[in-house]
Amino acid sequence: MLRVSVQRAARATLGAAGPARRVPGAGWAVRGARAALSTQASSGDNVRYFKIYRWDPEVPGQKPYTSTYPVDLDECGPMVLDALIKIKAEQEPGLTFRRSCREGICGSCAMNINGTNTLACLCYITPPGEEKVSDKPVTINPLPHMYVIKDLVPDMTNFYDQYRSIKPWLQTKSEHDLTQEHLQTQVDRKKLDGMYECILCACCSTSCPSYWWNADSYLGPAVLMQAYRWIQDSRDDMRQERLEALDDAFKLYRCHTIMNCSKTCPKHLNPGKAIGEIKKAIADAH
Ligand code: SF4
Ligand code: SF4
Ligand code: FES
Repeated sequence: MLRVSVQRAARATLGAAGPARRVPGAGWAVRGARAALSTQASSGDNVRYFKIYRWDPEVPGQKPYTSTYPVDLDECGPMVLDALIKIKAEQEPGLTFRRSCREGICGSCAMNINGTNTLACLCYITPPGEEKVSDKPVTINPLPHMYVIKDLVPDMTNFYDQYRSIKPWLQTKSEHDLTQEHLQTQVDRKKLDGMYECILCACCSTSCPSYWWNADSYLGPAVLMQAYRWIQDSRDDMRQERLEALDDAFKLYRCHTIMNCSKTCPKHLNPGKAIGEIKKAIADAH
């Protein structure tokens, strides 16, 4: 027997025509017969709803809206990205989001899930230990305070420009034999731990209130931590120049140590601490 909620979704589905849209009152939005097929096939007791931000710049005059999709969790992988892929495959082919690795390595599936910036591929639909399926929909929005290209895809141009600005590559002043490894001591190598693992997903920067208001001039936690990763690299000869380039009221000192960045990082890194270390290094150099 279908659950009441599935029947409700199916009724709304059958009433919806054309492109995905929010159905007044019921709130379920789906695309025609394809979605009807999918909801009718969901016969389990394990249905969860996904309320997803939608916006298509190619539809003239369209304003952002949310659509809600039912997913039978008995027929879906455990992660939010699994649900998005299933919705796209079975209900709404136009639903747009980035993903690649499906294992928290590429950083492309960063989005805001239930109010927290995280990676959809690392975010459980039902967190371990919670056996009961929640009646609350999973809400999914693009990373906050970013321009949106379409649906869940943010425009990362400014973020990547800022990353490029810190020259994220090894710079040496003396000649090195490029046929030999450029070695570090184990102690020096250890200084990069907690920074080299960053996948540049931008979850931290887009959770930072200072970055929301000054993204054009403040570099934000992700880029600043990468700047510090090169400052700390014993093989790099540009430590002083790198510190001088960051000694700027906007680029660095817009950080007010609110620490949202470190709380939200899905890789459990601590960009707020790295920013504090840069400030200390600059103070020591004065
Ligand atoms: S520090 Fe964490 S949240 Fe920020 S970009 Fe790197 S991996 Fe993503
Ligand atoms: S510590 Fe606060 S202000 Fe500084 S980068 Fe992190 S979230 Fe932003
Ligand atoms: S798909 Fe690569 S981090 Fe999620």
